[in-house]
Amino acid sequence: MSLFDQLQPQPGDPIFALADQCRRDSRKDKIDLTIGIYHSDDGRIPVLASVREAEDSLTAQHQPTPYLPIAGLPAYRSAAQALVFGPDSAPVREHRVATVQTLGGSGALWLGARLLHSVRPDSGVWISDPAYPNHAGLFSDAGTATHSYPYYDVTQQQLTFDALMGCVRNLPTASIVLLHGCCHNPSGADLTPAQWRELLALIGQRGLIPFIDLAYQGFGQGLEEDAFAVRALAASGHPFLVAQSFSKNLSLYGERCGALSVVCSSAEEATRVEAQLVALIRRSYSNPPSHGARIIAHVLGNPTLRSQWIGEVEHMRQHMLRMRQTARAHLAAAAPSYDASYLEKQHGMFSLARLTQQQIHALRDVHGVYVLDNGRLCIPGLNSRNVEHFARAMAAVTQLA
Ligand code: LMR
Repeated sequence: MSLFDQLQPQPGDPIFALADQCRRDSRKDKIDLTIGIYHSDDGRIPVLASVREAEDSLTAQHQPTPYLPIAGLPAYRSAAQALVFGPDSAPVREHRVATVQTLGGSGALWLGARLLHSVRPDSGVWISDPAYPNHAGLFSDAGTATHSYPYYDVTQQQLTFDALMGCVRNLPTASIVLLHGCCHNPSGADLTPAQWRELLALIGQRGLIPFIDLAYQGFGQGLEEDAFAVRALAASGHPFLVAQSFSKNLSLYGERCGALSVVCSSAEEATRVEAQLVALIRRSYSNPPSHGARIIAHVLGNPTLRSQWIGEVEHMRQHMLRMRQTARAHLAAAAPSYDASYLEKQHGMFSLARLTQQQIHALRDVHGVYVLDNGRLCIPGLNSRNVEHFARAMAAVTQLA
């Protein structure tokens, strides 16, 4: 018997494994709509000018690379906090927010899941249906039972807000409710401000623990608008957690830059929470990497680079909107009976198409168009050169029974 005999084969991550499969496909006209990475109209991952400038100026300084503090680079932590909570946030002013640097948005969710399990081991987490496939694993690995709440009906292409409220109304006290702050992954369908208010009020009344995943700030309605749910919760005085990612809005995927903020009921509690986060980090990866954090702290802390960056985020957002409109127009021409209005109703990087498994496989096998098994399309995988091919492929497969 060998040491690892009992290990079962893993199916592979539904997003990364499919992206690899697409990479290995030798067809020149293949279209990769798998992983959530922004590509410009030239089909490349952009290096933002603000990021390049910050990186150049840091490189020119030839600084040594000591360990960062376990909680992360202080300038990065405060810049991340200010970006999500805004300039005049009561919990920030009152020192009630513990913010630490994390390994991307997933690292923030991972850390938050462990923190919550350490204080509420019996609390389950409720995750949206349809779900981002990694959410359940991040919480179940921490020991938390996972469940789902109804969120979006892909057959009707609409939010199931009443069913969501009905579910939340009946959750056990101290349940964790994981919410997408903007650009819901995978549906691209977001709550309106009025719906957020109603949901957050119910969460407060029921004594639930909201955990907001904010991986796409700036890609939905704008940098400020996309922080609506976080800021509304912060104003309500209710304790909550928020996971941030800078992978997408700074186009720094591989630097793994994120942050976890925990809004507490007092400054003293925030100090204890931060100490617990520091202990959890120390016992896992010890302390975070510095390169990306220094770049981001420089971009967000320098008024000129910051305003350049704000313009670059808006440019990415506008490009995705244009791709949505263009794809819809081409689809309307190629398949007049196919209702593609969802492409323009949904926001951010993703749209969820109503497609059968047969259609999804035909898209992949016959047309070289890779979408996830749940029908999720990564909109910035489209560009002005491939969007017609996409529309023709969608038109062809949607004629299939
Ligand atoms: C995605 O959903 O494709 C991205 O958020 C990448 C990831 O880490 O899953």
